[in-house]
Amino acid sequence: MKLPIYQAFRAALLHFLDDPENELEPLHTEYFPDGILLIKDGYVEKIGSAHELINSLPADCELIHYPEQLIIPGLIDTHIHYPQTDMIAAYGEQLLQWLETYTFPTERQFADQEHAREVAEFFLDELLRNGTTTALVFGTVHPESVEAFFAAAEARNLRMIAGKVLMDRNCPAYLQDTPETAYTESKALIEKWHGRGRLSYAVTPRFAPTSSREQLAKAGELLADYPDVYLHTHVAENRDEVAWVAELFPESRSYLDVYQQYGLLRPRAVLAHCIHLDAADHECMASTGSAAAFCPSSNLFIGSGLFDLHATKASGVRVGLGTDVGGGNYFSLLRGINDAYKVTQLLSKKLSAFQALYLATLGGAKALYLDDKIGNFAVGKEADFIVLNFKGTPLIERRLQHCQSLHDKLFAILMLGDDRSVTASYVMGQAAL
Ligand code: GUN
Ligand code: ZN
Repeated sequence: MKLPIYQAFRAALLHFLDDPENELEPLHTEYFPDGILLIKDGYVEKIGSAHELINSLPADCELIHYPEQLIIPGLIDTHIHYPQTDMIAAYGEQLLQWLETYTFPTERQFADQEHAREVAEFFLDELLRNGTTTALVFGTVHPESVEAFFAAAEARNLRMIAGKVLMDRNCPAYLQDTPETAYTESKALIEKWHGRGRLSYAVTPRFAPTSSREQLAKAGELLADYPDVYLHTHVAENRDEVAWVAELFPESRSYLDVYQQYGLLRPRAVLAHCIHLDAADHECMASTGSAAAFCPSSNLFIGSGLFDLHATKASGVRVGLGTDVGGGNYFSLLRGINDAYKVTQLLSKKLSAFQALYLATLGGAKALYLDDKIGNFAVGKEADFIVLNFKGTPLIERRLQHCQSLHDKLFAILMLGDDRSVTASYVMGQAAL
């Protein structure tokens, strides 16, 4: 019989048991200044103070000590494009022109599976370097792009969700599929990859303007045929895009309503941006169990607008945080939290450190309906976690000396942190960085 493998990680520990709301007090938050996270065969076995647990660890338990460091759950990026890695930080354009100028030519290269494989490996390295252990990922229209991505993620035992893009109009001919190939290629990928190890599939129409009605109907068929796959798309990101959708789909009440009419909104539907939505749209998202991916870096970088986090959450919509690389100009969700804070400030609202970190951990897991598996350190969850350095930069170290409360300390780490703060990323208890 194989003996269980135990590991104990000793450091400061912080995670959320539920939504901490926007309080400065640590509501639904568990914090151990000197804690132990005990892992058995890659799953959380126990969490508590080092004082209580240190003398009762199982025999043969490996003890890894990270003094002056903070362990938190792995960060969850609810919207990102791996094929856009090489065009990140592209100059000067807003959404529709940005797609034509930079995105489509870059995505063309993913017909080549070897190219896709090489980019996927770099992309996953970069995610882990930044403390992101799970992501919902766009491929390109080419099934090869998804094959390459899932193979790379599987080899690292990462919990990842991805899908082939569906796009059959209003884009270059070299990137177009058809309603039929959208269906058959997605179906083949679902049957090969969905539910294999830690991987899940997302049916991925790029956005309403690049899919015909026939193709959106095929996307709806796929969802009906496979009730637990994801739906991943963009909605209401940019004002010109919203006006274009109104011209293309005059029969729909709103941009979101196009997706609703084709049966695409349901639990595990994740819509990136959700900036220009009205109250009826929010109600529709909440009642269908759909989630919004808040992508502050991208919304600022390509000039799309200000996502109203408070209004969206108040209407009962699940919200996660995304980087939207390459619309977003960095991989770091710590930087994403920093920009999320600034966006709420521009809307004259506040974003507490607890709420911000929740969005990137348990909130993201709930948006992806993965909170039974990841997002915090509840017993039995998959042990994906990261180690943050309290002294990640000289400035953070200095600023922390002037912080009293837990909120202020965490806020400083979040507002000043980036990849330099990430000491290590662990995937099911294994060092992955
Ligand atoms: N809308 C349609 N395609 C894209 C994309 O690749 N990036 C972003 N940010 N928005 C989109
Ligand atoms: Zn995007």
